[in-house]
Amino acid sequence: MASRAAAAIAVLALVCAAVHSSEGQLSPNFHAATCPDLEHIVEFHVAETFRRDVGVAPALIRILFHDCFPQGCDANRSLDVADLVSLSGAHTFGVAHCPAFEDRFKPVFDTNPAIDSKFATSLRNKCAGDNPAGTLTQNLDVRTPDAFDNKYYFDLIARQGLFKSDQGLIDHPTTKRMATRFSLNQGAFFEQFARSMTKMSNMDLLTGNKGEIRNNCAAPNRRVQDIETATTGDEGIAADM
Ligand code: HEM
Repeated sequence: MASRAAAAIAVLALVCAAVHSSEGQLSPNFHAATCPDLEHIVEFHVAETFRRDVGVAPALIRILFHDCFPQGCDANRSLDVADLVSLSGAHTFGVAHCPAFEDRFKPVFDTNPAIDSKFATSLRNKCAGDNPAGTLTQNLDVRTPDAFDNKYYFDLIARQGLFKSDQGLIDHPTTKRMATRFSLNQGAFFEQFARSMTKMSNMDLLTGNKGEIRNNCAAPNRRVQDIETATTGDEGIAADM
């Protein structure tokens, strides 16, 4: 439970960091004058949601990498080996759908990188029941699926990493040493993870009049405006009839 709470707090900090931009750099004080209690408000709501659904923590962390920031960014530009090994450690919790990892056992068990045959058999058996396709989920970390810890790296050593990109970290000469170190030293993983997340959240940062703060986070303001205009237009037509 302690590690779950820690994950929630880490996510909260990351989300706050992502929205605080000023003068080309992230600033933890960006909302100090306009909304001094922001962090407590966000913390309260994230903690509340997290209590009901632990899946909210991986979903939020994933947003930073996969969906990146307001206008999207090239998350591959410039990241180094330490970033790759530590950020992949975000797969210490959360889930994936069968189509995302079935190449590990289809048409045969993966040999490049090699997969534990019992693990591959369990994935194959599970995904045999994935009907309609993409409805079943598999934990990314088979040891401690809901905890933000370093057990993901144990998975890799046991050849139970879910994706090729995960499993490959323990084979490749440039990443093996660090992945092994993180399995032995959770503190070192946490430290590098925080550093790499901060680095990633500073990439392609849009400040000043570049980009926009969305009124509705699901769509750019322009698109929402177009939809509203179209809807108002329809109402006008209906009123004329
Ligand atoms: C190295 C390249 C990466 C690849 C190829 C990759 C691929 C994937 C895939 C295929 C899924 C499952 C999607 C699904 O089936 O629904 C996933 C889930 C996830 N990824 Fe990654 N990922 C990568 C890096 C990262 C990074 C850098 C982070 C965060 C720092 C991250 C965080 C997550 C999380 C937390 C989930 C679980 C989401 C949830 O349960 O809602 N991934 N990733």
